[in-house]
Amino acid sequence: MSVLLPSLRGLFRDEDVSLLVDLRRDLHRHPELSWKEHRTAARLVDVVKSLGAVEVRTVANTGVVARFAGRDRHAPLVAVRGDIDALPIEEATGLPFTSTSPGVMHACGHDIHGTWAIGAALLLARQPAAGDVLVVLQPAEEVGEGAKAILDTGALDDVKAIFGGHVDRRFAVGQVVADAGPLAASADTFDIELLGKGAHGARPHESADPIVGAAALISALQTIVARRIDPAAAAVVTVGSIHAGTASNIIPERANLTGTLRATTPETRATIGNEVKRIAESIAESYRLTARVTVNLGTPPIVNPAEGSSWARQAAAAVLGEAAVVPFGLTNMGGEDFAFYLERIPGCFMRIGAREEGGERTAAHSPRFTAAEESIFVGAAVLAESARVASAALSAA
Ligand code: NI
Repeated sequence: MSVLLPSLRGLFRDEDVSLLVDLRRDLHRHPELSWKEHRTAARLVDVVKSLGAVEVRTVANTGVVARFAGRDRHAPLVAVRGDIDALPIEEATGLPFTSTSPGVMHACGHDIHGTWAIGAALLLARQPAAGDVLVVLQPAEEVGEGAKAILDTGALDDVKAIFGGHVDRRFAVGQVVADAGPLAASADTFDIELLGKGAHGARPHESADPIVGAAALISALQTIVARRIDPAAAAVVTVGSIHAGTASNIIPERANLTGTLRATTPETRATIGNEVKRIAESIAESYRLTARVTVNLGTPPIVNPAEGSSWARQAAAAVLGEAAVVPFGLTNMGGEDFAFYLERIPGCFMRIGAREEGGERTAAHSPRFTAAEESIFVGAAVLAESARVASAALSAA
């Protein structure tokens, strides 16, 4: 069938292709927002049971962890993860299996990611890894909460390696990125409240003006990336909201700012958070204001470890050929909560090409985003093989 790349034709039977294409289209038709993936989780529980999972657990509300038996029950446990939540976007793809939920859409390809995990389960049931494999169907990635919630349940405590990926239309179907090093950025936020002294707009000398302080602060925050971070490193400090004042002739008591912080290494992440605090407090002092600063830690950066990355590259080359493994060649300042797994468990997060021939490079989170159907089989095969390679390597160690 044309939906299968030639290199994958030996791996998937016609009935596998139908099962996975139907599943993906069904998930796409019925997208559910973070922490509301009830139908999705129920559907996936049915499928993993039908594929022969030896244990199926519902964890963290709408998460599912299914165990597929390896050849040796004493061999190390590994995991593959697919995230399953959708976004509050009105779909505009015009696909025949377009969303039936108004204002909700799989605009980030998590319909494909969930299907990858199921496809990997199917392949692992047929040709098991050395040890058992946990198939993790994770809710609430878009809000950066699901991975941590699943880890907090203890369901992955014995896992020795974990693999996951994201569809990416910057790469053609059949291309896989599994570089060691930074692959996604940390995503933290900050809140700053500048407290001053209100006064009549005609008598500014009686005020401590938080609006003037906020103006100085916004400019000064730009120097963090420009003058504190190595130009060869990647970082973002964005002020995304500012609120102050009620009328043209009143100097208000306070100004509130919020923003986002992105970095690709733990070191840069720590520096930009500390600098936001230091600069806000210093500017406040020089403008006779008080600053209350909160940095809210979100997802850490994804930094693929060397060994996990080599397992994934070996797996991708085995199923697709050496030429399929391509370098990222980009810096991604988006966040991805797979980072929480990699803080505790070795493994690799991949970018899986999802652009069909002649297709556009539409970005995820667009109402016109869709991943090429062929990418279902690439992700499924690479995740299954990554689990086998890691399981074999860990068993031999
Ligand atoms: Ni996504």
